[in-house]
Amino acid sequence: MSVHTKQFKITVLPGDGIGPEVVSVGERVLRELAGRFSLALRIDRGLIGRTALDHCGEPFPKETLAKVLDSDAVLLGAVGGAQAGETDFGLRPEAGLLALRKSLDLYANLRPVKILPSLTGSSPLKPEIVEGTDLLVVRELVGGLYYGEPRGRERTASGEERATNTMVYTTREIERVARRAFSLARQRRRQVVSVDKANVLEVSLLWRETVDRIREEFPEVALAHQYVDNCAMQLVRDPRQFDVILTENLFGDILSDEAAVLAGSIGMLPSASLGNGGALYEPVHGSAPDIAGKDRANPLATLLSVAMMFRFSFSLPGAADMLEQAIARTLERGYRTMDISAPGSRLVGTSEMGNRVLEDLEVLVQSGPR
Ligand code: IPM
Ligand code: MN
Repeated sequence: MSVHTKQFKITVLPGDGIGPEVVSVGERVLRELAGRFSLALRIDRGLIGRTALDHCGEPFPKETLAKVLDSDAVLLGAVGGAQAGETDFGLRPEAGLLALRKSLDLYANLRPVKILPSLTGSSPLKPEIVEGTDLLVVRELVGGLYYGEPRGRERTASGEERATNTMVYTTREIERVARRAFSLARQRRRQVVSVDKANVLEVSLLWRETVDRIREEFPEVALAHQYVDNCAMQLVRDPRQFDVILTENLFGDILSDEAAVLAGSIGMLPSASLGNGGALYEPVHGSAPDIAGKDRANPLATLLSVAMMFRFSFSLPGAADMLEQAIARTLERGYRTMDISAPGSRLVGTSEMGNRVLEDLEVLVQSGPR
């Protein structure tokens, strides 16, 4: 076992709704696994989203910005929960998340969708369609329609309202996320499908040409292009055709929620958002206010995000594998939160699911080589 002398700084942002519950399980497992691998962590907390708005009137306070800029990795729960009567669009909770991503320039959002054998029955799709699915959505995260200028609302001369958003990408923005997708594909099954709408949008034409050019740096990776409408259909028709899906911000947002159906529950999907420095790890699901505070949320997306933190921020793929295996074992033992429950399964709450994963982690630590 190697001895790590570097201390990693982590900022935990529990956020809103079920965020604090899933993150508290995440933090427990993070500390436990870090201890097993002799990793020194310094964990700090911060406010974001609705919780930050309520405390200091803004969704991404300066103190939080200072903390994340000084961190090796950020673990986020969930953000969201607009309140009736709030009219300032810039002060909605989600604006905090968008500002966080932008401030760390986290241009590559990785959303893996890997269907565990024990969960093929949880998807509303036929088991023979979903089984064996193992794909990775690489979503550009700090450009496109989400951030493009000009944007806004105005009143026209005739008294109507007019609203504008702009989908805009530069070659540099496309190149860097494409390189990231091809490098990741090189460590997987070496196939990239780039998704665009090049039959309609100039932005997509530039996207396609740029991706083709970057592909020349990765001769061992195969590249195909799909239009986004076709890709949406292919994802539920034959998801096993995909290895890495590379796409722009809004398309990736939509396709990754669709891909969650394959996993049976969005409560199973983790994500990592990477830039050139810090990194953000968060479950793909939202704040789920309807079940918040009831110990019913699925913490596994957060735990799988913690596994990604070990892989990408701590360069400890062995620890990441071990946590992923522990989660698979827990599911094989039949433990299920409400969202993935099945006849005959053992229904558990958020915190107990965490305990069960820790048990399996312990078994793996005792039996496996480090
Ligand atoms: C996601 C979410 C966010 C997004 C929202 C909450 C701003 O849907 O992470 O996919 O659109 O990116
Ligand atoms: Mn989304």
